[in-house]
Amino acid sequence: MLKNDLILRTLRGEPTERTPVWMMRQAGRYLPQYMVLREKYGFFERCQTPELACEITIQPIDIVGVDAAILFSDILVVPQAMGLEVQLIETKGPVLPDPIKTTNDLSRVRIPDVDETLGYVFDAIRLIKQELNERVPLIGFAGAPWTLLCYMVQGKGSKTFDEAKAFCYTQPVLAHQLLQMITDTTIAYLQGQVKAGADLVQIFDSWGGLLSKKDFEDFSLRYIRQIVAALKDTVPTIIFAKGAWHSLEAMAATGAQGLGIDWCIEAPVARQFAGGQVTLQGNFDPAKLLSPVKVIEQETKEMLAAFGPGRHIANLGHGILPNVPVDHARAFVDAVKNYRH
Ligand code: CP3
Repeated sequence: MLKNDLILRTLRGEPTERTPVWMMRQAGRYLPQYMVLREKYGFFERCQTPELACEITIQPIDIVGVDAAILFSDILVVPQAMGLEVQLIETKGPVLPDPIKTTNDLSRVRIPDVDETLGYVFDAIRLIKQELNERVPLIGFAGAPWTLLCYMVQGKGSKTFDEAKAFCYTQPVLAHQLLQMITDTTIAYLQGQVKAGADLVQIFDSWGGLLSKKDFEDFSLRYIRQIVAALKDTVPTIIFAKGAWHSLEAMAATGAQGLGIDWCIEAPVARQFAGGQVTLQGNFDPAKLLSPVKVIEQETKEMLAAFGPGRHIANLGHGILPNVPVDHARAFVDAVKNYRH
């Protein structure tokens, strides 16, 4: 039995004594303890070694006191398992040297056996669950098919992902074939995470906001809907589609228990769009964690008041930045934990 199940109760819409809190990218470069391991091991080595993934996953629980752990891994392990080479270059971020552009390229992509290709993730989850010893829930995750397509086609990070969009708009049949292959892989992958012990899962659609409402439905949400449906009898799902505020109502209708929002939409407006049956997660501007601690405390209280009691998980509106002082991250978490509605 979990000792702290605030997040799970909040996702079920049950009342809780306080608002729960975690931070996207909480296991990462702002922590000096992470940087020590980063010096010694390569990025995918850290992901693929269960002991390292476990240690990094638990660091923010011990250091900043968040109410959930999130598996240390990356969304790009899925394209890797599907047969694409993925490199993580320190100054450039992810690079896929042979991106998908044509029908011929698609023949290099496969729907893998996830136990064979991603079994190291399931091993890590089993180890983390053991080490957490029921202290807090463990969040599993995957990238949304659209966001993974962005990297698989563009071959690197981008502000606009124009090549990925052009691929979808000019070769829609091929794009939908690729999206369905990613979806099938992701369903098996997340089911494997749940079987290994993940208590809830989050789908990261970091680039959902690059699409119009109509294109988001066509190239993203219809695949997310399949993933949510496949998990519905297992654990709660949170969809975080950054910037896709226009589709909050449609996302709530998938049956997902939680929806992540960024800082560009106000809490009452998001609530109005999403309706009363879903839990909202967010939405502190990650750059605000660079402000003085007093400002962080004040603005965190204002955020909590704006969401009101219940059906809210406090989080940032996107991942924590590497240059945030640990004290400031802790000030955010403590401000949530000390607040009472
Ligand atoms: O949240 C966590 O603490 C768990 C681990 C996690 C990582 N990546 C570790 C990571 C999670 C949930 C992710 C998700 C992820 N990865 C997303 C979706 C969320 C988002 O931020 O939008 C995306 C788009 C990626 C792809 C990716 N991985 C990028 C663009 C980069 C480079 C830029 C960056 O933020 O560093 C990565 C590398 C990465 N993934 C690091 C970590 C800790 C940094 C690696 C390092 O330099 O040590």
